[in-house]
Amino acid sequence: MGVLEEFTGPLSQQFSQLSTASQAGIAVVGVVLISVIVNVLQQILFKNPNEPPVVFHWFPIIGSTITYGMDPPRFFHEMRAKYGDIFTFILLGKKTTVYVGPAGNDFILNGKLKDVSAEDIYTVLTTPVFGKDVVYDCPNSKLMEQKKFMKVALTTPAFQKYVPIIADEVTSYFKKCPDFKGQSGVANIPKNMAELTIFTASHSLQGKEVRSRFDEGIAALYHDLDMGFTPVNFMLHWVPLPWNARRDRAQRTIANIYMDIIKERRAKGNNDGSEDIMWHLMNATYKNGVKVPDHEVAHMLIALLMAGQHSSSSTSAWIMLRLASRPDITEALYREQVEALGEDLPPLTYEDLAKLPLNQNIIKETLRLHAPIHSILRAVKSPMQVPGTKYVVPTSHQLLAAAGVSATDPKYFPEPDLWEPTRWNKDSPIAPSVVQDAAAEEEKIDYGYGLVSKGANSPYLPFGAGRHRCIGEQFANLQLQVITAMIVRMFKFRNVDGSNRVIGTDYASLFSRPLEPANIHWEKRNW
Ligand code: HEM
Repeated sequence: MGVLEEFTGPLSQQFSQLSTASQAGIAVVGVVLISVIVNVLQQILFKNPNEPPVVFHWFPIIGSTITYGMDPPRFFHEMRAKYGDIFTFILLGKKTTVYVGPAGNDFILNGKLKDVSAEDIYTVLTTPVFGKDVVYDCPNSKLMEQKKFMKVALTTPAFQKYVPIIADEVTSYFKKCPDFKGQSGVANIPKNMAELTIFTASHSLQGKEVRSRFDEGIAALYHDLDMGFTPVNFMLHWVPLPWNARRDRAQRTIANIYMDIIKERRAKGNNDGSEDIMWHLMNATYKNGVKVPDHEVAHMLIALLMAGQHSSSSTSAWIMLRLASRPDITEALYREQVEALGEDLPPLTYEDLAKLPLNQNIIKETLRLHAPIHSILRAVKSPMQVPGTKYVVPTSHQLLAAAGVSATDPKYFPEPDLWEPTRWNKDSPIAPSVVQDAAAEEEKIDYGYGLVSKGANSPYLPFGAGRHRCIGEQFANLQLQVITAMIVRMFKFRNVDGSNRVIGTDYASLFSRPLEPANIHWEKRNW
């Protein structure tokens, strides 16, 4: 009997005496152990000097998914401190290369069409929600044309009409909402902000007909549609699970509602003078001479409302939570309006917004600390050489841009964790010098939907950069400024315990938002 057999013989005898379940359990533990050892050895022994460093992880496939998912910004900051601006981590089995800082944002967001693709990543999630033939369910050149059509309706004359619509929605919402009965109370503010965002966006962007349907059940359908945006759907989008069935039904129903409205408008001659976004899309023609079909108009309308909903509602919730933590700023905002617009606070106009710099800076500063999109992903289509390094990112990787990292970097923003809207005043001791200089001399580029700044030097990109840059930026700014200005006219806020604490962030969905309940104490001014 060999030495090895002397040891293994009794062991294998004992193993064969165990129940089948115990044997299976031991086998699984063995396989996991071996895969952990192989995985660790691979990381130590087979480092590829031509690829970015890989974040150390014990388990294959799981990799760093859990640490990343719990708090992406913290993960980025910690890994950057360990590995530098560019590193790779395993996200659900996929090698994901993160490149932070302005150079990284530029590398990923301004990547060439032949090198990077957004649609390869996002279509599984967005196509069932928006519908076929739009956004990521079509070639990029078609998306660029669609963005151009959508942008046409987001111009100054349209904005001048939107301001009173949004302002009236805010006033009537708080007058009717049962959460705000009486003179003071406590409210879980993100829920109210989500409702207010969809009412104001649907009314201004999509007109009275669509807005009125929100009082008649379309809100519940949009909620079902929204369930399609859960992160597990990156993998389970096709599985006939109850939430996916509800998503598909809601998509069909909402698209039909829009198509009925389009038909009615066409029957009436589509000439009621409203010239809203639906009107613009109904009259748009692709470069190849094809008129935009009705189902594409409907799907673009869904995409527009959905694209803005999460970002704007989460931002407005953060604004209210920040104001509750800093009642001094709420009062400064109120005084700003009285001084700029008059004691009687007349109905708000588009032109008034430019007279309220603090009100504008509230949005800027809130987006700096609470950008709703913490990670932007791209598939790599051809090997990409990282300028100034020896690294080449292969097509087996995906790229991840996290613009929030530079927006909270002390190199660009002194006291980066402090929410201080006045930092955006040029003479502030904590002013972000680089952002303002960069904005002045920024390079502009046209990807097919009008000139946009490349943002290549800017550490502050809450609306992204490149061909997929947000087209809703001006609308979102307008909507958030009007909502903030109107709420400040109506309420004083403070934290329930009187502290200046701010609640943590919920990263469980695709968009970061406040953890709920996020209660604040409200008190009505004189109304
Ligand atoms: C794209 C942020 C509001 C429509 C984006 C992107 C970001 C962003 C970061 C780039 C995504 C990428 O590169 O993959 C925000 C923020 C908002 C906001 C922070 C509010 C505070 C809106 C609104 C609308 C809108 C209100 C519509 C009216 C779009 C569209 C795209 C986009 C159509 C283009 C997607 C593409 O080309 O791939 N947004 N957004 N967004 N956003 Fe927004």
